[in-house]
Amino acid sequence: MIRPGGAHAEAVVRLVEWFGREGADLPWRRTRDRWLVLVAEAQLQATPVARVLPYYARFTARWPTPADMARAELGDVLAEWQGLGYPRRARNLHAAARVVAVDGWPDRLTDLPGVGPYTAAAIRCFADGEDVLPVDTNAARVVARRFPGGWPGAPGRGWEAGQAIMDLGRIWCTARAPRCGSGCPLRDGCPAADGGTAVALTPARRPQGRYEGSMRQRRGALLRELADRGEVDAARDPEAAASLVAEGLAGARGPVLVRAR
Ligand code: ADE
Ligand code: SF4
Repeated sequence: MIRPGGAHAEAVVRLVEWFGREGADLPWRRTRDRWLVLVAEAQLQATPVARVLPYYARFTARWPTPADMARAELGDVLAEWQGLGYPRRARNLHAAARVVAVDGWPDRLTDLPGVGPYTAAAIRCFADGEDVLPVDTNAARVVARRFPGGWPGAPGRGWEAGQAIMDLGRIWCTARAPRCGSGCPLRDGCPAADGGTAVALTPARRPQGRYEGSMRQRRGALLRELADRGEVDAARDPEAAASLVAEGLAGARGPVLVRAR
């Protein structure tokens, strides 16, 4: 049957059908609640799914609504975030909760702290069910390889298509070792299958600088201690302490670093 959009629309239909049969069952796929989707996206940004799972479970149990988190002190949210990394994400999530708790969701989701175009699209797609593809680096790579003319859209099936693309990018159409021949549901008609077109493999990443001794590590050490004990002597590492205070990730009481409120 010919559908509007032709072969590409057919591919999207197959993708959606495949997702219905074989899509990963992940906890943030069992909700259409904007807040629960935002929590997931904040955590999944820069952290792999397997590591996010226990954090997502704890966060959503403890703070099931924006109002619940809005009442919490930032220090408690940071303590619960401990170990996930990039704590600015927690600070932004907490700030967003306070905005939503008071004013409701803004018309422009990108007005919320920490919500950029990707996360705004993810909320519209994964919570509201709109036909908007959230394009992070994984989705961008899958689309560039499989739909070099651009994402054809998935009318009425935006949620499934968006989630399916997430699975594709994570499991099959990976940056450096795409598994074209091992069950990729988009293989039929894929111009990049088996290295078919010029969509190059992403080059090996520039090695990250050493974590040991880095500012990230030093800040992390102070934040961990704050989470455990509630306060730390800033003199232990004045530079790291000052940067945490400057970003609102810790408070200061004289020479003592305290949890942010
Ligand atoms: N990464 C970001 N959003 C995701 C989602 N909804 N499912 C799986 N991985 C994701
Ligand atoms: Fe990616 Fe290969 Fe699947 Fe094409 S066939 S979408 S390149 S994994």
